[in-house]
Order: sequence, then C-alpha cells, then structure tokens
Amino acid sequence: MAPILEYRTWRQVFSGVLFDMIKSAIQRIDALFFGGMIRTVQRENYVNKSLRPLNANLDHRFIAYYEKNYSNLLSELCDKYGSDKGEIAKSGHPYLWPSHTYADFYSRLYDHCRIDVKRVFECGLGTNNPNLSSSMGISGKPGASLRVWRDYFPNAQVFGADIDRDILFEEERIRTLYVDQTNPKSIGEFWTNVGLSDFDFMIDDGLHVFEAGTCLFENSISKLSKRGIYIIEDVSLPDLTKYKSYFDNKKYQVDYVILVGPRNLGLYSNNLVVVRRA
Ligand SMILES: C[S@@+](CC[C@H](N)C(=O)[O-])C[C@H]1O[C@@H](n2cnc3c(N)ncnc32)[C@H](O)[C@@H]1O
Repeated sequence: MAPILEYRTWRQVFSGVLFDMIKSAIQRIDALFFGGMIRTVQRENYVNKSLRPLNANLDHRFIAYYEKNYSNLLSELCDKYGSDKGEIAKSGHPYLWPSHTYADFYSRLYDHCRIDVKRVFECGLGTNNPNLSSSMGISGKPGASLRVWRDYFPNAQVFGADIDRDILFEEERIRTLYVDQTNPKSIGEFWTNVGLSDFDFMIDDGLHVFEAGTCLFENSISKLSKRGIYIIEDVSLPDLTKYKSYFDNKKYQVDYVILVGPRNLGLYSNNLVVVRRA
C-alpha cells in the first residue's frame, strides 16, 4: 500500500504545484493584457452565486453608505494594539492583510453608550502560533482586541477565550480562559469558571467555521443580557446563507451584514451575523 500512497501524494503535490503555476500565469496575463478583468469577472460570479440564496430568501436590506471617520476611537485603538478589526493608518500593522471595517460598524452601535457597557466576551485572542487555525501570523499580537475593548468600554470587565493555552493572560479588567469552541463541554466549563452572565457584547472571532460558530452560540447565548448584542465575525458569503437557514424559526432578531471597505472589497470575509434577542 505504501508505494501507492506515496505515488498519490506526489501526484497530488505535482498537480497542486502545476495548478498554482497555471493560476499565477493566468493572473499575470490578466494583469498585463486585460487590466485584471478576468479576476473581476471571477469575483463577481462568486459574489453573485454566493448571495443568490440570501437574495431569494430575504427581500429587505439596508444599504448604508458612510464617510469614514479618520479620528474614530475604536479604529485608533485597533492600530494601537494590533487588532485587524479596523484601522486609521494604512500600514504598520502586525498582520499581513487589509484590516476589516468592523470598528466603523461597532462605533455606530456603541459610541453613544460605551460607558454603560459592563461585560464583554470575545472568543479568539489572536494567536501568533502559525501552526494553529485562524492564526494572526508570527507577528500577531495576542490579546489585541481584548485591550481594544478594555480601553473603549471604560467600565467593562472583559473576558477572552482561546484554544491556545500559551497566549492566555490577565491584565487590568481583562481575564482570559481556555475554550475549544467546537466542544460543548469545554464551552460549559468556560462559563462555569467565568461564573457570570448578562454580557452586553459578545463576539465570536475564533475559528470562523459555521459548525464552530453555532456550537459556541448555542452554548453561550444564555449569557447575553436582555439588550445585549452577539456578533459572529468573518462569516464567508456561503456561510451567511447557512446562518440564515440556522436562524430560521428561532426567536432572535438577526442581521446578515456585509461590510464593504476600499481595500478589502468587502464581500469575502468582511461579513457579520448580528444577533439580538427578539
Ligand atoms: C483571528 S484570531 C482572533 C483575533 C483577535 N480577536 C483580534 O482581533 O486581535 C482567531 C483566534 O481563534 C482561536 N481559535 C481557533 N480555533 C479555536 C477553537 N476551536 N476554539 C477557540 N478558539 C479558537 C485561534 O487560536 C486564534 O487566536
């Protein structure tokens, strides 16, 4: 059996390399001769195909254009601590991709009442271990977003959770604990250790896989305060539709939010599921 396995592995490796070479050749030709048109058409097809089920099922949506506020506190804090949830500066970040534009959106939700927020929970500290899923890369700053929340919500206690035990820490108004968001028992133990409920703001910035998102949601939503907001970040377009089916016939008010920024083109993983009690 071993030689066959080896043969297959090499074939897979070879076809993978060949695929990458062909892809990069097409991209070069596209950039040189067609001004990136092939890529644009491909993207449009992907977006249209992914959004078709949502468009077919939901005939109401908000489209809100906005001027970016370049002195927005939340984006400033993201730059200060190194979270990719937003930015003011366009460079100098400890991650290698364009930032999300969530900070702009969250400012709209909380700027007017940030001093009233008492409890915040976030899954996903931002590991810098490149071998773990959803890593921020070796220059990542674990705990960045928790520090953002601590400064932005001056009266809040901030709780963080992550599967990477090596990055857990405690700091002024921040406590972090282990959780595996794919495991209900682990999530249950996390909440027992926290020993609190009535969270005003809960964010899932962990594994970014639909099944992990619903597992964390089901085992944590009872901790949301009456007027609290639970947000699942980095939802891919196909997963937005999965969440729509998941929340059908459940008693929540749910928004499927697509954010569009100049550098991330939105639509790929700059999307949120925003849940409130009905
Ligand atoms: C994108 S990073 C979070 C970034 C951080 N919130 C920020 O804005 O600075 C995602 C995190 O999810 C964690 N993670 C991955 N799988 C997980 C799981 N099954 N349970 C809990 N956390 C997980 C990773 O270890 C990583 O630290």
